[in-house]
Amino acid sequence: MKITLRVWRQKNRNAKGEMVRYEVDNVSTDMSFLEMLDVLNERLTLEGQEPVAFDHDCREGICGACGVVINGVAHGPETTTTCQLHMRSFSDGDVIDVEPWRAKAFPVIKDLVVDRGAFDRIIQAGGYISAPTGTAPDAHATPVAKKDADRAFDAATCIGCGACVAACPNASAMLFTAAKVTHLGTLPQGQPERSARVVQMVNQHDEEEFGGCTNIGECAAVCPKGIPLDTISELNQDLLGALANGELS
Ligand code: SF4
Ligand code: FES
Repeated sequence: MKITLRVWRQKNRNAKGEMVRYEVDNVSTDMSFLEMLDVLNERLTLEGQEPVAFDHDCREGICGACGVVINGVAHGPETTTTCQLHMRSFSDGDVIDVEPWRAKAFPVIKDLVVDRGAFDRIIQAGGYISAPTGTAPDAHATPVAKKDADRAFDAATCIGCGACVAACPNASAMLFTAAKVTHLGTLPQGQPERSARVVQMVNQHDEEEFGGCTNIGECAAVCPKGIPLDTISELNQDLLGALANGELS
């Protein structure tokens, strides 16, 4: 296939960015979207031009490093990560716009790479337990109801990619925060800090200047891990519980 890309190029955090047009020939339908960008970058490098900077690591949908807005949709036309999106989802002759996540809390570092340190700081604010872990305990040492184990596991699949923020008109990170709160708050080991956790994580969320959630649902629609919107309800319930316990600052 022959593809035309319009890619956001921005030298650094303070530079003014612009969309730059590139033609990419011989694109195989079996290539991942990132492999197609690799082909472009190899050519740019051979031509002595600066390659397009983009984030990636595992390239198998588990690390959360990759992520760009493709034709206006976070991670593109399939509900998966950018590294797991394949060029078979496009057609010969397509013109594809590629942009970084757009959110005040995710400043662009270069081209398609944004600083997601705000997510790390939300985790640091409360995404932990104080129960001693030690060596692997006997599987039945702490019984956990199947529905709770499943709920916690599903929430734990959030990979911190940030697509939810990029898709939200308010640039809210509430789905990400709710996934972490639900993951730990559903398990017995997560109970001691449950009230403090939700307050601290939501406070940090707001300090990072993510927007508020107004139940639009774009976040869940693009989430590659299927984190459901009702995790946000659970977060809100925990916040109300914290208020009742006098933990809300
Ligand atoms: S909730 Fe989904 S979209 Fe948001 S960071 Fe986690 S995996 Fe990515
Ligand atoms: S590179 Fe790890 S999820 Fe895409």
